[in-house]
Amino acid sequence: MTTSIPHGGTLVDRRQYGGELPENAIHIPLDDVALADLELIANGAYSPLTGFMTQADYEQVVSSMKLENGLLWSLPITLPVTESLGSELTIGQPAVLEKDGVPYGWINIADIYRPDKEVEAAQVYKTSDDAHPGVNQVYTRPELYVGGEITLTRPVEHGLFEAEALSPEETRAVFVEKNWKTVVGFQTRNPVHRAHEYIQKTALETVDGLLLHPLVGATKKGDIPADVRMKSYKVLLSRYYPQERVKLSVFPAAMRYAGPREAIFHALVRKNYGCTHFIVGRDHAGVGDYYGTYEAQEMLKQFSVEELGISPLYFEHSFYCKACGQMATAKTCPHSNEEHVILSGTKVREMLQNQEAPPKEFSRREVVEVLMDAYKSEVPQ
Ligand code: ADX
Repeated sequence: MTTSIPHGGTLVDRRQYGGELPENAIHIPLDDVALADLELIANGAYSPLTGFMTQADYEQVVSSMKLENGLLWSLPITLPVTESLGSELTIGQPAVLEKDGVPYGWINIADIYRPDKEVEAAQVYKTSDDAHPGVNQVYTRPELYVGGEITLTRPVEHGLFEAEALSPEETRAVFVEKNWKTVVGFQTRNPVHRAHEYIQKTALETVDGLLLHPLVGATKKGDIPADVRMKSYKVLLSRYYPQERVKLSVFPAAMRYAGPREAIFHALVRKNYGCTHFIVGRDHAGVGDYYGTYEAQEMLKQFSVEELGISPLYFEHSFYCKACGQMATAKTCPHSNEEHVILSGTKVREMLQNQEAPPKEFSRREVVEVLMDAYKSEVPQ
């Protein structure tokens, strides 16, 4: 065995490129989140899901993080439609799934239901505050959900990231080809700073390979755009990483900012991409002060490695310590906070906006150059 077993046992494949679309079917428009989910269901990244969630799966996932078949699953994967479109759809009939007028496939409608979004928000995001970007997204998407198996008939394009948009079967093939028996996955929605690099390389000391797997789907306003991040990943990898031990590929999903629940989702999905290990550091997938620093880790620790099917690697808050002269955490450094170089995301953005370079102890020069360059031409929205 060289890579991990997919969640549920087999890698789902619902792609039928060039396949026929149902005739005379109603069209359902997809938003960015749903198009990304459609692709990721179809290529097996979301195995064992074969479609958008029916009410039974949705309600169990929301209330108890389980699919109807009993498997662990932490985030709802839903297809929202408006009330008026919903009234035209019929259970048992197919509908074409399109984005900006382009048909990408179809759904066999098994269910049309009205979710209780307040309950979804409270259970999944632990808050019903619409200032939370994930909750806000749930509230602003249309009011009915459509469930059912999907088929993807047209490849989803990834623009600038086409070469790095590997499907789970492709990343698995890379791992086999490189003869990596153990692979650690790294989720990020940020440029890779020294703290990220430190935890990746600490993990690399014990596993064969690193899958640097940045999320490039929809993110909130203020996060650094994926094209800028990709430039920074490439320059960083080329200067500071052993080429034969790292693979860069993108994860096209939207960010939910669901903290602990999203950490479980991120781990299960990286298992489907073939990873055997997954890094969870401080405030994984968190936003603002909604989650505790180690809440994601605590949530994952409630499940056995057998149930997860992937081994989480936990890291404490990492920083550069001037007295140690190296990266460290509270586990390895005896010095006081004054010696530690710690900058918040907000502070870093502020510095970049003022064309002020964050210190080299925080971020590699080459990464800072890419970021300052991006902020010079336009402040990322
Ligand atoms: S996330 O929303 O994708 O989780 P981010 O890109 O900041 O945000 O984090 C990527 C991974 O690195 C997560 O596992 C996160 O917990 C971890 N991480 C980020 N910053 C630090 C840090 N200073 N120390 C330890 N882990 C960190």
